[in-house]
Amino acid sequence: MPTNDGPEQIRYGVIGTGMMGIEHIQNILALDNCVVTAVADPEPSSLLSAREAVGPDTPLATFGTARELIAANLCDALVIASPNHTHHDVLIPSIESGLHLLIEKPLCTTLDDCREIVDLVSDRPASQVIWMGLEYRYMPPLQRVMSEIAKGTVGDVKMVAIREHRFPFLVKVDNWNRFSKNTGGTLVEKCCHFFDLMIEATESRPVRVYASGAQDVNHLDEVYDGKQSDILDNAYVIVDFANGSRGLLDLCMFAEASKNEREIVVTGTAGKVEALDTESIVRIGVRTDDILSGVNVVTEEKIVDSSIKHQGLHHGASYLEHVDFAGAIRAGESAAVTVLDGLWSAAIGFAAHLSLDSGMPVMIDDLAQVAGLEFRP
Ligand SMILES: NC(=O)c1ccc[n+]([C@@H]2O[C@H](COP(=O)([O-])OP(=O)(O)OC[C@H]3O[C@@H](n4cnc5c(N)ncnc54)[C@H](O)[C@@H]3O)[C@@H](O)[C@H]2O)c1
Repeated sequence: MPTNDGPEQIRYGVIGTGMMGIEHIQNILALDNCVVTAVADPEPSSLLSAREAVGPDTPLATFGTARELIAANLCDALVIASPNHTHHDVLIPSIESGLHLLIEKPLCTTLDDCREIVDLVSDRPASQVIWMGLEYRYMPPLQRVMSEIAKGTVGDVKMVAIREHRFPFLVKVDNWNRFSKNTGGTLVEKCCHFFDLMIEATESRPVRVYASGAQDVNHLDEVYDGKQSDILDNAYVIVDFANGSRGLLDLCMFAEASKNEREIVVTGTAGKVEALDTESIVRIGVRTDDILSGVNVVTEEKIVDSSIKHQGLHHGASYLEHVDFAGAIRAGESAAVTVLDGLWSAAIGFAAHLSLDSGMPVMIDDLAQVAGLEFRP
């Protein structure tokens, strides 16, 4: 729908308008010449929240299901922000619709479903932008970490240590996130972000995963339909990569008494770069031959991205992700973050849960769904 003054308008449909769907709506409305024309959610209160987010004067079609929204033919692009266990069934008609897609993480809640989606997407024309929502890549301090790695500041990356110490899972519509079968498991559900960052930093294929963790503190007294919540709340995960580098995830979800929710440390042969995401601080340390003076060769910088028009719940990362998604649609470019990235980031999480269950390391190539699968195009 071309306009005379400014970029081509993009009409969005948002599927699932709970917490994240509303954040997407707010981001879309902050973009240049982008509108939300339709939303789909089976929960009336969520549809009402969408109505309020869009504003009373803007036309908005509301539907109970994704299929009805797609059939109404009101959109150029869809954002999938329904619960994790609905992604697979929502994705099938969405992919087949030919509309551009931004898919919230994790791709799906089983590795079989992830693989099915990857195979389905591989048959689609390149003109359909199918973008995996892994927006931690867009957090300004993390973008700086990645640009320092690309510049060679740390030399060859050898270690990627990611600590997330945060509050417990929030209350959700029907508290779907209290059960692993709905989320894919904590190490898939939220930690796919961190495994994606490890892959980005090491630029290497994961080969082996070992995890130790449990549900020790959170939601222990929560029972739904006679079943107790089974959601893991702390873990250490070690990931070995094909190029010899390694990653460590330290997750604790009863550690809200922390200054930074996340600390990401990448260390290589030449130095170290570190991001503290709540404070938006990046520290860069370069090794010197003089060990004694070396301890002082660390600079610290507060990272501010003034292009961000909506901070939202993720330090502006979702806004920046949307800028790139809309840019790709308008430029006719393919997705920079793909469903293959979605699969690989989740695969490490699935392997970590298998390792937890067995007490043994899991070889990635022992997972039939990824054995022989290309790592990056
Ligand atoms: N990228 C991130 O950092 C981030 C953060 C939070 C959530 N998420 C993801 O966003 C998605 C939604 O999470 P949330 O926190 O907004 O949950 P939520 O419970 O707040 O909202 C989910 C909404 O989807 C609706 N819904 C349920 N089944 C549906 C269906 N079949 N079709 C359409 N809508 C349906 C629910 O009624 C609810 O309104 C999840 O995949 C979650 O993992 C991502």
